[in-house]
Amino acid sequence: MTETVSGTQQGQPARETRAACEKHSSHNPPAGRGGGGARDDSPVTAVGSGRKPDRDRVSGPDANGARDGSPARIVDPGRVPDAGGHHAAAIAVAVDPVPAPGRSPAPPTADEPPAPPPTVPLSARALPPPAMHTAAAEFAELMASRRSVREFSTEPVPDSVIDLAVRAAASAPSGAHVQPWRFVVVTDPVRKRRLREAAEAEEYEFYNRRASAEWLGAIARFGTDWHKPFLTDAPAVIVVFEVHQGPNSPKPYYVKESVGIAVGFLLAALHHAGLATLTHTPSPMRFLNEVCERPPEERPYLVIPVGYPAPGTRVPDIVRKPLEEVMVRC
Ligand SMILES: Cc1cc2nc3c(=O)[nH]c(=O)nc-3n(C[C@H](O)[C@H](O)[C@H](O)COP(=O)(O)O)c2cc1C
Repeated sequence: MTETVSGTQQGQPARETRAACEKHSSHNPPAGRGGGGARDDSPVTAVGSGRKPDRDRVSGPDANGARDGSPARIVDPGRVPDAGGHHAAAIAVAVDPVPAPGRSPAPPTADEPPAPPPTVPLSARALPPPAMHTAAAEFAELMASRRSVREFSTEPVPDSVIDLAVRAAASAPSGAHVQPWRFVVVTDPVRKRRLREAAEAEEYEFYNRRASAEWLGAIARFGTDWHKPFLTDAPAVIVVFEVHQGPNSPKPYYVKESVGIAVGFLLAALHHAGLATLTHTPSPMRFLNEVCERPPEERPYLVIPVGYPAPGTRVPDIVRKPLEEVMVRC
């Protein structure tokens, strides 16, 4: 069990000190609670802040939280200095049961409530307001500079950067933590060609028959048509799928919301790395299952060409709504 016992967002001293936490370490768990995770009278052993938690591990036996009956530990996920040398501390305490010497933890009985789910310490950075403002302003500026690009250079991009961006995307929150997404990274020129041909066949129908005049009017200013050269020019095309219930996948919740958030992370990560993207939605998209060899429970969501903009690329002159128009406070 993990409890955040102190910490501050404002650079104030933590309410409870490490020493105060350490004093609990002489306690033994109350009888009968061994398998169920300890609460506030549980044993705690300080191990200091030397080790950073594994950021990819959100649960598991080795994320600074004991699972195996080993002593519980105080974990300081980091004291983050700001430019002025201030520190904001967030201290989490991993509290796990320690059996008394020579005694095994008593197994839970039918009368006992079920053991609480396992937890690990929160690893979160806390910034004092000035540094927070700077970070927020820098991120807002970075994101405001993102644009959809429709003309790509054929220059390859490092696989590792794509991997890391997908890793960032896959860290997104998801309904019931089902993580209902698949990211298919297409770099093979033959497969990209098939993808483009199939997409252009659908897009030809869309632009010439299926799209309403109103829809065509709405997208006229982007100058798009059924030709999709970016699907072969871009060195990588990430096809994102929603993963629904299937033989190897559980029932997901809030799939579209979850995948949408993950794609937002992905676009942000790729842009942050200096790569250009387009969010492309050929309509309909079912052909992508065949091209990407994905099973039917995976449903195409978006196609994202990734790469460098072609030299001299220009983008539509569009204006974003000002903050006052998109945000209300109440
Ligand atoms: C869900 C979604 C679907 C989109 N589909 C297409 C598409 O099929 N083709 C295209 O050229 N742009 C597509 N776009 C890109 C939008 O036209 C673009 O995001 C918008 O014009 C704003 O421009 P910006 O991305 O440069 O800020 C799509 C964007 C979103 C969010």
